[in-house]
Amino acid sequence: MSRTTLHAYLAAQQSQLPNLTADLSQIVLQITAACHQISTALQQGALAGILGSADSGNIQGEVQKKLDVISDDLLVDALTQGGLTAAIASEEQDHMVVTNTDGRYLVLFDPLDGSSNIDVNMSVGTIFSILPRPAKTELSTEDFFQAGQHQVAAGYVLYGPSTLLVLTLGAGVDVFTLNQQTGEFILTAKQLQIPADTQEFAINMSNQRHWEAPVKQYIDECLAGKTGTRGKDFNMRWVASMVGDVHRILTRGGVFMYPYDFKDPTKAGRLRLMYEANPMSLLIEQAGGAASTGRVRILDVAPHDLHQRVPVVLGSKHEVERVTAYHQTHDAAQNTPQQG
Ligand code: F6P
Repeated sequence: MSRTTLHAYLAAQQSQLPNLTADLSQIVLQITAACHQISTALQQGALAGILGSADSGNIQGEVQKKLDVISDDLLVDALTQGGLTAAIASEEQDHMVVTNTDGRYLVLFDPLDGSSNIDVNMSVGTIFSILPRPAKTELSTEDFFQAGQHQVAAGYVLYGPSTLLVLTLGAGVDVFTLNQQTGEFILTAKQLQIPADTQEFAINMSNQRHWEAPVKQYIDECLAGKTGTRGKDFNMRWVASMVGDVHRILTRGGVFMYPYDFKDPTKAGRLRLMYEANPMSLLIEQAGGAASTGRVRILDVAPHDLHQRVPVVLGSKHEVERVTAYHQTHDAAQNTPQQG
């Protein structure tokens, strides 16, 4: 059986996709080479003494795992030595770093998403987003503040029973499986499509009492199952790693929600717009799904901070539309002056 490597795939796509330059292809290959090393480190786990905390915190105030730091270093080194990226921004670092003043692309990444899963040997992932560098000489943090719709590529690597790369270059979503021995990612599924309807939702139910009314309404209706207004039973899944949950949705449909809640009203949501929500939303839309904050399309959100958070509702189109409609009805009622 002939097998298409990521190298060969990118070379072939270059003649078909005008935005896919040789530099962009190389940057994708540099990211995935680092992910191969991350995958190897994860497989060694306790044998390499790399589980547990790193005695450091990140800008989000979260305790870093050793593997968060190792993964971050591997990606930073790969992109810096690769010499093609203008600047990088990592979820684990306070500020962006200029890597090549002549580079044409900006790369953002969450080196190890869902890292609380590491110590219990469950799935984690690396998420990346690539933006074009604005046409001006001096590089600054503001250059990253482009809405997600401007991403030229996005993807994640899921470290599960197999290590998978899920990639979009703006023309659908394809999947590659890592051959751990050779380090090559091999094309194993093409043009994923998310079913528009679903009977499966993913949400951290322990936050239920903090949710806004539209989210409560939606989940209550799912829980009511056949006997409720939806007239069908729903199933629930929660991997606690966004990469794992999104991968399931890209594979068989479903809706994933990390909505705004009142647990800490100062936070706009839990997930980060630029490292998590934007790349995942591009993948979901490219596979025929939808991604919203509950009120606006995520890919339209104008960033103002590298580490800003955002509510996330994504997956099967009809369910995301339903959740958004509940928010609209709720907001309209709130703004309607009371009679009498
Ligand atoms: O920080 C991001 C993240 O780990 C996601 O990958 C995941 O979906 C979510 O947080 C898990 O949140 P919780 O700890 O509330 O289950």
